[in-house]
Amino acid sequence: MAAEKGTISLIKADVGGYPGHSQVHQELIKRAEECLEEAKGKGLLIDYRVMRCGDDLELLMTHRQGTNNETIHKLAWDTFLACTEVAKRLKLYGAGQDLLVDAFSGTVKGMGPGVAELEFVERPSEPFIAFMGDKTSPGAWNLPVFRIFADPFNSSGLIIDPKMHAGFTFDVLDVKKNSAITLACPEEMYDLLMFLGAYDRYMIRAIHRRADGEIAAVASTDKLSLIAGKYVGKDDPVLLVRTQAGFPAQGEVLEAFAFPHLVEGWMRGSHCGPLMPVSFHQANPTRFDGPPRVIAAGFQLAYGQLVGPVDLFDDPAYDETRRMASRIADYMRRHGPFQPHRLPLEEMEYTTMPQIMARLADRFKSLG
Ligand code: 13P
Ligand code: 13P
Ligand code: MG
Ligand code: MG
Repeated sequence: MAAEKGTISLIKADVGGYPGHSQVHQELIKRAEECLEEAKGKGLLIDYRVMRCGDDLELLMTHRQGTNNETIHKLAWDTFLACTEVAKRLKLYGAGQDLLVDAFSGTVKGMGPGVAELEFVERPSEPFIAFMGDKTSPGAWNLPVFRIFADPFNSSGLIIDPKMHAGFTFDVLDVKKNSAITLACPEEMYDLLMFLGAYDRYMIRAIHRRADGEIAAVASTDKLSLIAGKYVGKDDPVLLVRTQAGFPAQGEVLEAFAFPHLVEGWMRGSHCGPLMPVSFHQANPTRFDGPPRVIAAGFQLAYGQLVGPVDLFDDPAYDETRRMASRIADYMRRHGPFQPHRLPLEEMEYTTMPQIMARLADRFKSLG
């Protein structure tokens, strides 16, 4: 991308699971690759990779059209539609699940797919990581992203690297009010944590480096349950993080995932469980449709070409994290339908509560 700005777009949707909600069928990956290859042939894309995490189809694209570009978003939308056709033919589970509207109108934002896009001038060497989650939600990134960009016990670069020493700013979305606030660390850390800890409502959207305002990371923050007003699919999230040389080292970024913290989105989008970092081939949630997974695809960018991916959690150093996640999964599962394993009523994505209440309303006797 030389001195010119380039864009990395990671756009994802679940357009049909195989079997159930566990994986993406190879035919869908093939179809998506055909669509993106054609766009590359026309010069719209510089490069692309089609990946999957669980049942989510992930389109990683590089181009020079900027963020939130209509042509790129339409390409992603049309690709998901083409894959939905394949999913319907194979009668895959929930074909077209995340495509919430009938017609494309300028952007995929708010239409179902998850989007994370970074625009920047490529550095002399430009490593970055694409994180992709399944059976979870955008709030899952709050804890690790906080630790990466604000906790010196995770990222020693905050102390050691002169470009990181001034800290980072956090753009935080309030999904309920559809408003956003920017807070700066380290000074406003305690204010920031008041919001980030409530990850069902407040979610990190983007991180900038304070020394020069450079973009460091961006997350998808599409809360499908709120977009559609009812459960129609979930919001398995993606996250793009630039690493090294003035940003957290790759190892600092990955270190934040060594603790399998509790996230929302397991079974029916209605349970919480540990986020398990796994290699690409292990991103097949099966136990109670989980536990929630995250994969990390590492790349070097070379003039917009994607050099990679490397499967970064394919490392025995994460075996203990996975074991701990399995033990936590056992512990959480024994709660069955009880909170906090089951989410509070207002957070549940499938729910029979309105019907139960309608049926039983007359049997509640006022005591007051
Ligand atoms: P940088 O090359 O990004 O400065 O990283 C140094 C390093 O040692 C990473 O662990
Ligand atoms: P997905 O959002 O990954 O399709 O999972 C749906 C679900 O609730 C599985 O239990
Ligand atoms: Mg699914
Ligand atoms: Mg999914």
